[in-house]
Amino acid sequence: MALLLHSTPERREIWGRVFAEAGELFFATEAEVTDPEEVTHIACWIPPNDLSRYPNLSAVIGVGAGTDHMPPLPEGVALSRTVAPGIEAMVRDWVVLAVLALHRDLPLYLDQATRGEWVTHKTRLARTRRVGIMGMGRIGTLVAQTLGAMDFEVLGWSRAAKAIDGVETFGGDDLDGFLSRSDILVGLLPLTDDTRGILDDRLFARLPRGAGLVQAGRGAQMDMEALRRALNGGQLLAAMLDVTDPEPLPPDHWAWADPRVIVTPHIGAQTDAEEGAQHALAVIRAGREGAPLPGLVDRARGY
Ligand code: GLV
Repeated sequence: MALLLHSTPERREIWGRVFAEAGELFFATEAEVTDPEEVTHIACWIPPNDLSRYPNLSAVIGVGAGTDHMPPLPEGVALSRTVAPGIEAMVRDWVVLAVLALHRDLPLYLDQATRGEWVTHKTRLARTRRVGIMGMGRIGTLVAQTLGAMDFEVLGWSRAAKAIDGVETFGGDDLDGFLSRSDILVGLLPLTDDTRGILDDRLFARLPRGAGLVQAGRGAQMDMEALRRALNGGQLLAAMLDVTDPEPLPPDHWAWADPRVIVTPHIGAQTDAEEGAQHALAVIRAGREGAPLPGLVDRARGY
């Protein structure tokens, strides 16, 4: 059993050390592989082109939280996505930053600042603001708990409704009820056939007028032109986006220049190399013991 890392040079050193300490066989690059039959696991963002080179491959381990960009894998090869507390904490930090930015009118004040305008607007208490989180997996739940502890009224929507203390949760078919009460909507969904393009004119129209949008899911979930229409029509007041369509967002894209929109270049989370390597070790050990693989992706479901 051996793991092949197909990733950046900076990660190789840390992964090499973690695997050496664990006594597990590790190849830092494809060039290092002398016997391809030894390779049972490949860790990567995108796998090497020719996986048929590795006849004993049992799992591909995506080094990020999402695996929607992965090509189809050969029959019988499992896919695992990295489950790491650091990823969850980083995305939580970014979402809290964004929710607070919209709650406290940061886009408006940043715009005023470009003109040196000292103008104040009415401030609202967090407990009067309802934050609706779309996607109540591990990250959505952590975000909900954090925002709840900051006094926001938190609602959560997911395919199958979940019971979470202090959070009003909604299931798949009650999307409209959820949207109608989300003053700030937070997108934390995985990209699947069901969520592609979900943030569209129809969805924005169901939010309370003047709502805010925080999007940290995937760029392909939102029609950027629908966002523009919702902003221009006053249905949305402001948006903070960490994912866009396309990525990278071209320098002349309207969203960069629009004072109602704050864009960050998909930096919500970057997997810590040590944590990524530990996740990969856990996958290898689970496979050896016949235990469920951590982060196993259900390819039919899409995440
Ligand atoms: C980043 O978007 C990731 O999936 O880790």
